Amino acid sequence: MSAPIISPSILAADFSRLGEEIGAVSNADWIHVDIMDGHFVPNLSFGPDITATVDGLTDRILDVHLMIEDPARWVETYAKAGADHLIFHVEAVEGQEAAVELAEKIRSLGVGAGFSIKPGTPIEPWLDKLHHFDLVLVMSVEPGFGGQEFMPEMLEKVRALRAAIDKQGLETLVEIDGGISAATIAESAAAGCDAFVAGSAIYSQADKEAAVEELRALAAQARDGR
Ligand code: DX5
Ligand code: ZN
Repeated sequence: MSAPIISPSILAADFSRLGEEIGAVSNADWIHVDIMDGHFVPNLSFGPDITATVDGLTDRILDVHLMIEDPARWVETYAKAGADHLIFHVEAVEGQEAAVELAEKIRSLGVGAGFSIKPGTPIEPWLDKLHHFDLVLVMSVEPGFGGQEFMPEMLEKVRALRAAIDKQGLETLVEIDGGISAATIAESAAAGCDAFVAGSAIYSQADKEAAVEELRALAAQARDGR
């Protein structure tokens, strides 16, 4: 098993010093970029131009989380902006066929394809579609804002995904997003997550690299005991 993947969310960074804030997590595996359009979620964040700026500031993998309507219209733009993963919401596409088609389109752009799932959406219908995806992002808060409280009941989805992925012999990664901190990462890792998004838990700390390292160590320890 490879080391747990830590993906700091720059939504919690100080945008007036974005370059420094990204440099401050140079030991992170991925950089999580939250795209919000004010429609799919009530909040607005940033778009393709800032994504391209972030891409120019780091050689880390850009883990781009599209909380937008009509994601199919935008995937080429974000691929050009430097996204390495494009994760769309299943609630933003019309049905499973469209989701699989979009995953194929994303992969054809040379980008990893992921889907994300809101707390109220069941995972079961997606368990036989996992081979079309490189990763699944389980939301452990309602998407739209950083700094919310972790919803432990979402770990049921993680367990179902872990079991299905292992049974089917897939490489699809399970990622979790929302309320991940030193207090919640161990249970998430024990449930079967491979990758962990953390915004406020990292960016609220003075030493952000130490925060990344601590989260990774806690996840590794919990996974070893699984
Ligand atoms: C929420 C975003 C998250 C957010 C996480 O809609 O998808 O990535 O930045 O922030 P924390 O880690 O503070 O919950
Ligand atoms: Zn996110």
